[in-house]
Amino acid sequence: MSARLRLGINIDHVATIRNARGGSAPDPSRAAELALAAGADGITAHLREDRRHISDADIEALAVLTRRRGLPLNFEMAVTEEMKAIALRHRPHAACLVPERREEVTTEGGLDVAKGHNTIAPVVASLRDAGIRVSLFVEANPIQILAARDVGAQVVELHTGAYSDAVREGRPEAARYLQALRDAAAQAAGLGLEVHAGHGLDYETVGPIAAIPQVVELNIGHFLIGEAIFTGLEAAIRRMRLLMDHARAAAPAESAA
Ligand code: PXP
Repeated sequence: MSARLRLGINIDHVATIRNARGGSAPDPSRAAELALAAGADGITAHLREDRRHISDADIEALAVLTRRRGLPLNFEMAVTEEMKAIALRHRPHAACLVPERREEVTTEGGLDVAKGHNTIAPVVASLRDAGIRVSLFVEANPIQILAARDVGAQVVELHTGAYSDAVREGRPEAARYLQALRDAAAQAAGLGLEVHAGHGLDYETVGPIAAIPQVVELNIGHFLIGEAIFTGLEAAIRRMRLLMDHARAAAPAESAA
């Protein structure tokens, strides 16, 4: 049996609902408290440049809350000077660098680390110097994985969006996307990178990803916040945790990379 997977809960869309009306409810910090009580291993939040969901004040509150609880905050950020300064001010446990386009509905693709080497490498260095663990959100592409190692990241988070969409839509490419994720995880671990995964995961798609032996953390948000409307956040997280743990227990242990 492989090691227990960590589950990070992305609470961005609690803020999306709050912002639909303005005001202060529902409060992302309250969601974070509930998530931690339900067995989450950490909280993820993306402070987008346009502040469409999480606000600067949310990040401040989440940094205080997670520090008090001794649990990690994973700060998702675009590779900009503004976001770097905010990360350096709050010093979260981890920063996950993501691509960002204002017109996108969500983070649509992985970071092009190979092309962006000269911009990304100094940001990675500054964050690491401040003691922040740096993760890069990348597609399951061997060139991007190598580039992630070359810019000095400690972690890659593999983008599971294309795989999840293909499963949900019943498209045959799902198997190919899953194999690419498996290969990327093995490659990254072989290069000494820690491997995370996330985006678009739900009860149906989480199992095969949780079963990839090199993956040590999943970050899941939108589906769980939606499911919380029907079953409550704690129940949704507990069910996700169970599905992850079952898939992990049934998976073969990691073989030497
Ligand atoms: N990981 C990263 C890097 C993301 O950008 C997101 C979405 O903000 C997630 C994980 C979570 O994706 P979802 O909300 O679809 O579960």
